[in-house]
Amino acid sequence: MFEIKNITMIYNMEKTEKVYALGGFDLTLPDSGLIGIIGPSGSGKSTLMYCLSTLKKPTDGNIIYNGREITTLRDSEREVLRRNEFGFVFQRHFLVPYMSALDNVTVAAADNSGEAVEKAKRLLEGFGLGEREYKKRPAQLSGGQRQRAAIARAMINDPKVLFADEPTAALDHENAFAVMDVLKEYSKTGLVLVITHDRSILKHADRVIEMWDGNLSSERNGEAV
Ligand SMILES: Nc1ncnc2c1ncn2[C@@H]1O[C@H](COP(=O)(O)OP(=O)(O)O)[C@@H](O)[C@H]1O
Ligand SMILES: [Mg+2]
Repeated sequence: MFEIKNITMIYNMEKTEKVYALGGFDLTLPDSGLIGIIGPSGSGKSTLMYCLSTLKKPTDGNIIYNGREITTLRDSEREVLRRNEFGFVFQRHFLVPYMSALDNVTVAAADNSGEAVEKAKRLLEGFGLGEREYKKRPAQLSGGQRQRAAIARAMINDPKVLFADEPTAALDHENAFAVMDVLKEYSKTGLVLVITHDRSILKHADRVIEMWDGNLSSERNGEAV
């Protein structure tokens, strides 16, 4: 699904203090599966994810997504691609504080109809947020429930790829594992990329990519890069 060649990101190109965030490596990612990206702070994990998801444009290299070069797309084409094919989960949930959990999920639906409400309910219920919870505002939910609502929102349009940048960093272990269960289930049909500092949440990953100083350092559970 993703064929990444010589991906390079240099921040502050115009300044003397350049930051080499991605060092020009190749990587191929499949259509489905749970892929972990682990590495120390500043190693380039988020930059890689933002480039793959078209939120950032790499300085050099190619990203072929389902046969299509996406680094040269126009802004409007990138937006359409993101809306139709990608979902995002971040460390912070970014739910709208004055809307119920259910409305937060429904409002993200491309087709904002009664069907979307039913689908949002199914997702939330599948993640352990029943009627009592999904009528609540984010502040009335636990951290783990908020993050599961944020994941339901990211899934409402059936994205082919779910990008999750430190989705469990603000959670205790029990909630972190509950979130990972939800992501693991989704990865049976879609590609789920999870950035984390915490190796223990990646025990069910199909593959773990390790980053170090803007490069891939090694892998487990998978072929060599
Ligand atoms: N917008 C930016 N401008 C300049 N440097 C940046 C920017 N974003 C990230 N960096 C730098 O790029 C490197 C990789 O950052 P990042 O991708 O956020 O790493 P990680 O997610 O692994 O912590 C770091 O040295 C970081 O300081
Ligand atoms: Mg990061």
